[in-house]
Amino acid sequence: MNPAGSKGKIDLERLPSHIAIIMDGNGRWARQKMRPRIYGHHAGVKTVDRVVTYCRKLGIKALTLYSFSSENWSRPPDEVSALMGILHEYLIRELNRMVAEDIRFNTIGSIELLPDFARNAISDVKKKTEGNTGMTLTLALSYGGRDEILRATQKLAQAACRGEIDPSAIDESVFAKALDTSGLPDPDLLIRTSGELRISNFLLWQLAYAEMSFTERLWPDFGEADIEEAILSYQNRERRFGKTTDQIRTE
Ligand code: IPE
Ligand code: IPE
Ligand code: MG
Repeated sequence: MNPAGSKGKIDLERLPSHIAIIMDGNGRWARQKMRPRIYGHHAGVKTVDRVVTYCRKLGIKALTLYSFSSENWSRPPDEVSALMGILHEYLIRELNRMVAEDIRFNTIGSIELLPDFARNAISDVKKKTEGNTGMTLTLALSYGGRDEILRATQKLAQAACRGEIDPSAIDESVFAKALDTSGLPDPDLLIRTSGELRISNFLLWQLAYAEMSFTERLWPDFGEADIEEAILSYQNRERRFGKTTDQIRTE
């Protein structure tokens, strides 16, 4: 399959099950155009539409987008409220499409910190798409990896205090179930745009063995050909999970 018209061929039998993306560079994109940062965020939403459409068409089962970090609350208040408004508009506009395209909507992060109008739209879209199985679209909102790990730890510690769980029974699988991403496979592929080479507190537990793909492209300019390039690069790598090449090849 070669949907975006680039040179390589994506092997549809070896797609990453879960792609996670750090959508970065909206502000710099706007600045290059001498426009306010919010203009870049509006343009970034169009990229979200393109990426969701393309991943769904390709058959990706889970797509997780880093949309607003726990640290992003420290941005100027007018930027924060514009981002909440953009989120709300996005959910209202995309609900029908998610229903029609069999996309289940999900969130991770401390969404209780979001304003009521955004939380109401989130719960409405979740409810109306909960039975969908084509692809799970997860938005990370008010999300921080450390915050998520702490909340999971508190949950398990409280269960242990109540005598509901034996502390020595807390293994990786029990811990993973206490995280916001419970039920989702770990990401196979992480993409970050805008040339930054860092994780910025995203999915700290879950990215343990993800393949990384960094691109200079700013998020509003990111498109089908860029995801395709990231998937092709992913398919050309050998994932060893600590083993040797010989072991992997004879499995
Ligand atoms: C990503 O773009 C969007 C969010 C973090 C909400 P930025 O707003 O971080 O853009 P830059 O990094 O300033 O260019
Ligand atoms: C990471 O981008 C968060 C999101 C994409 C939502 P930032 O722009 O906030 O990250 P830093 O501050 O450059 O690390
Ligand atoms: Mg940024």
